[in-house]
Amino acid sequence: MLELKSVHLQKGEIETLVIPVCEDKEIHDNQTINSLIRKAKKTEEFKGEKDEEITFYNPAQTSVKRVIFKGLGKLEKVDTESLRKVAGSTVKNCIKKDFSEVLIAVPAPKKIRQEMSDILEAMMEGAFLGNHLFDKYKEEKKHKPLEQISLFVTSETAKKFSRLISQVTAVCEGTILAREWVTTPSNEKSPVELAKSIVTIAEKEKLRATVLDVKALRKHKLNAILAVASGSENAPRMVVLEYKPKGAKKTIALVGKGITFDSGGINLKPGSASKDMKTDMAGAAAVAAAMITIAKLGAAKVNVVGLLPLVENMPSGSAYRPGDIIRTYSGKTVEIGNTDAEGRMILADAMSYTVEKYKPHTLIDLATLTGACVVGLGDKIAGVFSKDDKLAQAIVRSGEKTYERCWHLPLPDDYKESLKSEIADTNNIADMNGGGAITAALFLSDFVKDTCWAHVDIAGPAFAKKESAYCGAGGTGFGVRLLCDLLEKL
Ligand code: BES
Ligand code: ZN
Ligand code: ZN
Repeated sequence: MLELKSVHLQKGEIETLVIPVCEDKEIHDNQTINSLIRKAKKTEEFKGEKDEEITFYNPAQTSVKRVIFKGLGKLEKVDTESLRKVAGSTVKNCIKKDFSEVLIAVPAPKKIRQEMSDILEAMMEGAFLGNHLFDKYKEEKKHKPLEQISLFVTSETAKKFSRLISQVTAVCEGTILAREWVTTPSNEKSPVELAKSIVTIAEKEKLRATVLDVKALRKHKLNAILAVASGSENAPRMVVLEYKPKGAKKTIALVGKGITFDSGGINLKPGSASKDMKTDMAGAAAVAAAMITIAKLGAAKVNVVGLLPLVENMPSGSAYRPGDIIRTYSGKTVEIGNTDAEGRMILADAMSYTVEKYKPHTLIDLATLTGACVVGLGDKIAGVFSKDDKLAQAIVRSGEKTYERCWHLPLPDDYKESLKSEIADTNNIADMNGGGAITAALFLSDFVKDTCWAHVDIAGPAFAKKESAYCGAGGTGFGVRLLCDLLEKL
């Protein structure tokens, strides 16, 4: 569906050619394209300003049916994310116009001071992700995704980067998989159903998949998982995925929060606060999808193990209560200050189980953990917590590369006091003003022993209320591209 194509704009039949244009500088090498741009700018209806657009039909000296010029603004503002966005919005517009294919002109690396591989990767990602529609719950399907998306490059470039297409395609398919899991309503993704869906796809990619059912969770004394699950009619599960490339020694563990619906439990969320809580399993979705992608590509040289506690948090006569004390898998007891702080409970068990059973070199957890993180960083940036600056930096770097942005936040030891309980080893909520994302991370830090660990709070960016250039409304798949990039480098 994605391809790199070298064409003759004077020959071959081309339906739609889209040309990104800067307002102040020439960014293409192709002479025909540059002369088309000059003509467009002569109309004085198009300067190349950001988000400006103009269409030419059957321009002279070409065999192109329509040329759409898209403004990128000033060159100094152009980066890989603007290319991702322009490719995504191009595809979205073409879908709305019921086109079936598009050819997008790729700017010249020297002229925009970017590597060709980065330009192509970004444009392919934007185009592929922008082509995803989630319409399975609509009777009337208004539009169809494009059948063919081509990037216009020279024949040498097409040859040189042919492998990149399958790589980017796999990573985007992983992102879309996570998006769909997150957008799926909770009545269709009980822990049992979600576990089945994950295992089915994982096994196709030759990942080893095991599922711990209630009996196994009880046997292993994963009591915090069981406590959170106790209010729901839907039984919990824990999925374990294993990727073991030949010759690998080091093991990286990924743990993803998988609350299939977070009502808050007995501390029921007020008003509309539970409206989007079907997305509270986005951490698990990102981990599963990233592992499936890595297995497909054979991309990581290390062993990767993924643990996904899947639980529904509901209030009922059998639900866990404020004041209850739970003896977690680690042996530490937790007093429940608030049943809505359920994510850290299931993660505590999953993480200490991971440390004991798999002895990973590094453990990273992804979780839609706190509203406080959204207050602090907004809904586009994730919070990263780690005492290991190198690991935190690697995550932040991968975030810059993929534009799944992450910000390193502190883990101050003295804040831990706020989690003290009079009668148990710890409380699951902090008794202090503010800093909720930090105290949640500090709570988790008690369950990894001395394993090198990072926690990524994705409560903000996991979900988007509105569509944007290369993402629809709903699950964003945040974390998949980040983890794929990171695991390749670890
Ligand atoms: N799933 C929520 C966090 C959340 C909030 C995710 C908004 C996405 C958007 C989590 O389980 C939760 O309820 N956290 C509480 C913690 C509090 C009770 C200490 C919160 O953030 O309010
Ligand atoms: Zn909650
Ligand atoms: Zn939650």
